Amino acid sequence: MDAAILRLASSCSRAPLDVSYAAKAFATIEFLRHLRRHPIGVDVCSMGELVTAERAGISAQRLTLHGAGKTDDELRAACDGRVGFIAVDGLEELRRLDALARDGCGARILLRLNLGIDARTHAFVRTGGDDTKFGIPARDEAAALAILRDCPQLHFAGLHAHVGSQIFDAEPYVETAAALMDAAVRAVRAELVAERVVIGGGFGVATSFDSRGSFDVSAAIGAVDRYVAQRAREAELAPIRLGIEPGRAIVAEAGTTLYRVLAIKRQSQRTFVVVDGGIAENPRPALYGARYEVVTVAPSAGDEVEVTLCGRSCENDELGTARLAQNLRSGDLLAMRATGAYTYSMAGNYNRFPRPAVVGVAGGLHWPLARRESIDDVLASDDVGEPVELESGRRPAAF
Ligand code: LLP
Repeated sequence: MDAAILRLASSCSRAPLDVSYAAKAFATIEFLRHLRRHPIGVDVCSMGELVTAERAGISAQRLTLHGAGKTDDELRAACDGRVGFIAVDGLEELRRLDALARDGCGARILLRLNLGIDARTHAFVRTGGDDTKFGIPARDEAAALAILRDCPQLHFAGLHAHVGSQIFDAEPYVETAAALMDAAVRAVRAELVAERVVIGGGFGVATSFDSRGSFDVSAAIGAVDRYVAQRAREAELAPIRLGIEPGRAIVAEAGTTLYRVLAIKRQSQRTFVVVDGGIAENPRPALYGARYEVVTVAPSAGDEVEVTLCGRSCENDELGTARLAQNLRSGDLLAMRATGAYTYSMAGNYNRFPRPAVVGVAGGLHWPLARRESIDDVLASDDVGEPVELESGRRPAAF
């Protein structure tokens, strides 16, 4: 992870690149404490992520608040200076912020634009095309700029777009940068100066042998950076900083999931290996058809056979296939590679399984990033209090 950050941060030769880690990929307090030592920001998209970053000691000016629909509490947090930037996702959200700002507080604004760019990724992680809920559509851009021009408490900091995840190609980023620079020129006409353009995250990471091959992220970012600098010169704009928001590219390869084999069943034409995890702690295979490389922890002896790996939930939750030692037994340990992103952060308690522990390993040390949940942790929200008469006007304690 540390190496991935350094690689990304040094992709620009011209000026420092603003790297902001997307906490949705994986965040615990202890993990963000580790990340804090790097000179990068953190994107948060909920109160939960914001408070995690605050408790990790990440200063407000390093935080950007995202979200396609923000609660009043989140907007208030942005106006109260709990984040350095808020990425505004719609005209109506900007009007709500405007009303708060007129009450005396303020915020630094990135306008998240919907540029209509389709990065051709899995439909579930497509966040940039016309037909998605994300960002400010072209028809609302002028109205958004007008609100910012007339409200000095809302300081216009720049333009943002995020067009999808698992992108393995530089082209959507160059296209995004071009569209954001066009918008920066339009902003100048509205008397607003974009200090930065942020091209989002989404840099693809291969998680199995049959993934779509490698993608030179640094080269892509370098190309975008040169393009932004050149466009700014041609349009006689003040120098513009480039920002990126990687999540997966920072943590995916850092994560390895350890599974214990619970059962081996040779039935039908296949060998099913059932492990002590699955859809609850890694929903990605079921949701996106994601596949990962799996190996036995002990060096395998003897012949290998193809097996179908399954989770232990009451679903047909196949995790993919692997070639494993023919003499594999229940109790053996398996390692699934490159599971650092969107696994633990998307984990739930289906079948009332407690979530696993997460352990950090770096510089000859290992330390807990999240403790293993107990059954009592899972049952904690079942403690709901007594029934209340509907007509009483009182709220049940759980609400
Ligand atoms: N910035 C914004 C505004 C985002 O919405 C996201 C991801 C990122 C940055 C970081 O994207 P990354 O570099 O990690 O691809 N659960 C899906 C991924 C959903 C990503 C949503 N937004 C998965 O497991 O593939």
